[in-house]
Amino acid sequence: MTLEQAQKALPLKGYLDMPTPKSEELIQEINRLRKEKNAVILAHYYQTGDIQDIADFLGDSLQLARAAQNTEADMILFCGVHFMAEAAKILNPTKKVVLPDLLAGCSLADACSGEGLREFRAKHPGSVVVTYINCDAGTKAESDYIVTSSNAKQIISQIPEDEKIIFAPDKNLGTYLSKVTGREMILWDGVCIVHEAFSFERIAQQLMENPNAKLIAHPESEAAILDMAEFVGSTSALLSYVEKDEANTFIVATEEGILHEMRKRAPSKHLIPAFPEDETCACSECFYMKRNTMEKLYLALKYEQPEILMDEALRKQALIPIERMLEMSKNIK
Ligand code: 13P
Ligand code: SF4
Repeated sequence: MTLEQAQKALPLKGYLDMPTPKSEELIQEINRLRKEKNAVILAHYYQTGDIQDIADFLGDSLQLARAAQNTEADMILFCGVHFMAEAAKILNPTKKVVLPDLLAGCSLADACSGEGLREFRAKHPGSVVVTYINCDAGTKAESDYIVTSSNAKQIISQIPEDEKIIFAPDKNLGTYLSKVTGREMILWDGVCIVHEAFSFERIAQQLMENPNAKLIAHPESEAAILDMAEFVGSTSALLSYVEKDEANTFIVATEEGILHEMRKRAPSKHLIPAFPEDETCACSECFYMKRNTMEKLYLALKYEQPEILMDEALRKQALIPIERMLEMSKNIK
């Protein structure tokens, strides 16, 4: 079943067309409902500013997975993309997990199926499979280790030197990790459509026009961009860097949603979104992340759908490499 078919099959059809309160009242109703239902709102840094502001917890993929695992709330309203909400359900199955829009997918998750990964592994016998958390439960279930952008380097350096490594599904992140860990890796050919679209030429031009600026980039970007960057890191690492570094101007090569929290944490710094290849654009938005809106968030809380549901055998299998990841990166904040 595609995500679209899944959405149509929801118990309350057409709930997305139900009326929603306007502006201030919308926020009041969300606050009332989350209290009434003992729900926690988790949000990723790529969500719109209004969603980030209303969240109980804002974080990167690793921090959000931990927050989902540890919450005592009855309902998790996950404002991020499908694989994140699914990871929350895998880690905390007794909670009701809802995602404002079931079509909030991810190009990386779409690039690699569990079946495809099983066949790929069979072509490279004796390899261990390290998979980026940006994948669905079926793909996780075929993996030995799950990693996020904030713990991947640390986890890979704990894998014995003589093990051959398959890395899926992000070839840009894999190329970067291979470089920083010195480990050879067999790479799956997937990309993040947002980070893949950054333009080397346009960013080089931005750097020339802003000689005091530092380029900072997420490791889902292509090698040429990362080589040009002063600092490479996960969303949370990019935020800390901007906050602590002495520079005043940064060119930021990641999804534009992060600028909202960056401006809050470092109000005196000048932040310039890195240019994508599309010359009509001055910033980079993830079309999937931006499917979630405050109205859909309200509807998800009110109608408690779309809910993330999963086969229990699959959940248990997918949990193994996620728990391994959490155990191997306990010291990372
Ligand atoms: P992190 O927040 O873990 O760096 O992940 C970035 C991302 O692309 C999420 O989709
Ligand atoms: Fe996926 Fe890229 Fe969007 Fe993150 S920014 S959800 S990796 S498509």
